[in-house]
Amino acid sequence: WPLHAREVEAIQRLKRERNAVILGHNYQAPEIFNTVADIVGDSLALAREAVNVEADVIVMAGVHFMAETAKLLNPSKTVLMPDMGAGCSLADSITGADIRLLRQHYPGVPVVTYVNTSAEVKAESDYCCTSGNAVKVVRHVAKEWGVNRILMLPDEYLAQNVQKQVPEIELIAWKGHCEVHERFTPQDIRDLRDNHPGVVVLAHPECPPEVVAEADYAGSTADMANYVGSHKPGRVVLITECSMADNVAVNHPDIEFVRPCNLCPHMRRITLANIRRALETMQGAVEIDPALAERARAAVERMIAIR
Ligand code: 13P
Ligand code: SF4
Repeated sequence: WPLHAREVEAIQRLKRERNAVILGHNYQAPEIFNTVADIVGDSLALAREAVNVEADVIVMAGVHFMAETAKLLNPSKTVLMPDMGAGCSLADSITGADIRLLRQHYPGVPVVTYVNTSAEVKAESDYCCTSGNAVKVVRHVAKEWGVNRILMLPDEYLAQNVQKQVPEIELIAWKGHCEVHERFTPQDIRDLRDNHPGVVVLAHPECPPEVVAEADYAGSTADMANYVGSHKPGRVVLITECSMADNVAVNHPDIEFVRPCNLCPHMRRITLANIRRALETMQGAVEIDPALAERARAAVERMIAIR
């Protein structure tokens, strides 16, 4: 990426001057993921690592809900979002008021919300979860609360995919969908298998259950990367956002990655140029009302405490 060298150099210098670290989600473009990001991973890893950050400034190379989560866990630090428009269709699908209404409908039923939600929604939740720990979290909550019904919001497909693994618990879902993963179809997978014999199919659990049923394995972005590292398939396809395969492929030159491409327009809003601008100007700091933040933080911390 020779064209990016000057931006990368400037960002590295600014990080030192500002005592800043950059957290990068697995869906970030390779020129960010492999150059300026200090800590990379799935949503769960970024939330866990955010707790240990010692810098004064955190730049989120990811989407807005991830920056909010980092801010919740680091209230005294400056958390910068290089583009405030980097949202998420799941986070946009539900509000705090929706959860309050659901609670009236389902009194006594605990609320587990996906980390892909606003701080306002987290504040109305009992626990958060990510795709990497959803099964563990719902089992924990059912046991802790002595219940067999849980509101699992807002990703309908994640709830349906998790439901298959916890038949003893009734998961009540919402109608939120990830605009990237909902586009994959079972026919896409069958076509991939026909056109690329022997391909191992890994899918993200934000995909519809019919798609996951056609896959060989389903897991979070980190789970998929780990699967590739431990199983070393000769040929693999990651049914998820396309930059993910670019980033995993860097470490596995011997593996053939088949690439159907669904881009997340929100993740793509983050560029080297706007990361640099954020660090230069210190504009784009995420702020959360302290009372709301305290309640939202509790839901995230309850999740992190589950090992
Ligand atoms: P994970 O990294 O937790 O698998 O999440 C995927 C995603 O869509 C994040 O926006
Ligand atoms: Fe949201 Fe889907 Fe983009 Fe992840 S990939 S940020 S879930 S829209």
